[in-house]
Amino acid sequence: MLVDPRGYYVVERVYESVSEFVKPRNVEAVFYSHQDPDVAGSLNIILDFFPNAKVYISSLWTRFIPHLGVTAGLRVEGIPDEGAAIELGAASLQVVPAHFLHSPGNHTLYDPVVGVLFSGDIGAAVFPEGEWYLFVEDLEHLEKHKAYMEAFHKRYLAHKKALEAWLSRVERLEPKVIAPQHGAIFTGDAVGGFLKWLHTLEKVGVDLLY
Ligand SMILES: [Fe+2]
Ligand SMILES: [Fe+2]
Repeated sequence: MLVDPRGYYVVERVYESVSEFVKPRNVEAVFYSHQDPDVAGSLNIILDFFPNAKVYISSLWTRFIPHLGVTAGLRVEGIPDEGAAIELGAASLQVVPAHFLHSPGNHTLYDPVVGVLFSGDIGAAVFPEGEWYLFVEDLEHLEKHKAYMEAFHKRYLAHKKALEAWLSRVERLEPKVIAPQHGAIFTGDAVGGFLKWLHTLEKVGVDLLY
């Protein structure tokens, strides 16, 4: 399964990287957390590159798919608001609803076999020029990393209530790793520290409008 395989300009790189590990025709599924161009913008090419992959995206967005130049509607499956289980080999992946974080039809994906939660834009970070790292592994590093996440979370996430609803779902799962679509991947103590930090965001999105 490919998760949020991104937009037009990186799709060839995605294809080459995937091909190092698995034959493209053996890719069974593509999961999209939401409809943004940096997530789903290359869908028309993805369907050609991975001819046997079924596409999963919130049912709110399936009617917009043709606007990406895609005609293979039969390969697209809408995920209901309450989430779903996606069977992949012996694993049952869990779609965890994350609506309004930021998109109104938004899902995260939990792999219980390895304990990884793919969190889409939740946990996204914007690095300053010249800085980049792949992992945040401890609380000390997380402390510094918060500064790169704060502006995005306050402006893009729609409402504190939506955030708390997602947090209570995720905390029950006790993920070992949280992997957002941008920024860095949380492991070790940084996983719990990151979830705790989300609780401390008193106001996000609409909360800040008035
Ligand atoms: Fe997004
Ligand atoms: Fe994004």
